[in-house]
Amino acid sequence: MRKPVRPEPTVCLARPDCPVAHDCAPLQPTLCTAMDARHSAKLQVCDVLEAIADSLPQRIDRHACLWAAASLLPVLRDAQAFEEREFFPAFGADNRQAATLRRLRAEHVEDVALAEELTETLLRLGHGGQEANPEALGYMLRAFFESVRRHVAFEREHVVPIVRRGSFRG
Ligand SMILES: [Fe+2]
Repeated sequence: MRKPVRPEPTVCLARPDCPVAHDCAPLQPTLCTAMDARHSAKLQVCDVLEAIADSLPQRIDRHACLWAAASLLPVLRDAQAFEEREFFPAFGADNRQAATLRRLRAEHVEDVALAEELTETLLRLGHGGQEANPEALGYMLRAFFESVRRHVAFEREHVVPIVRRGSFRG
């Protein structure tokens, strides 16, 4: 089974101009690298959830269900805590981003609520349980991973570049 993605120490090419570089300690992952690794970890979980959804109702991979049940909330909470602690303050230094940050934080809360529900179900399936309504579970899984993929894509396309450019200062 796949292991969660962990950020590796790197040298950031944007470092001389980066507005958050002061937080990037030597031999530690840069903020942008660390955020990218957390996004990748969330997308990895989404891929497994999609495979589970595709396997319903007959070919359920119970190991995948157990891995997803164990990974889903820790990966989500770690990524969200990092984003809200390290990245959102830089992105939201300009009040123009306030509405966007409110929406992203609201999506974090919604994702955790759905992830808690999915974790229970995945755990039950992983331990050999049956799903009474596979169609509803498939719908729930797809709603979750599609929402998380959209959220990650938005942060990668709009939050990370703005923080790196330091355009919130202008
Ligand atoms: Fe986020």
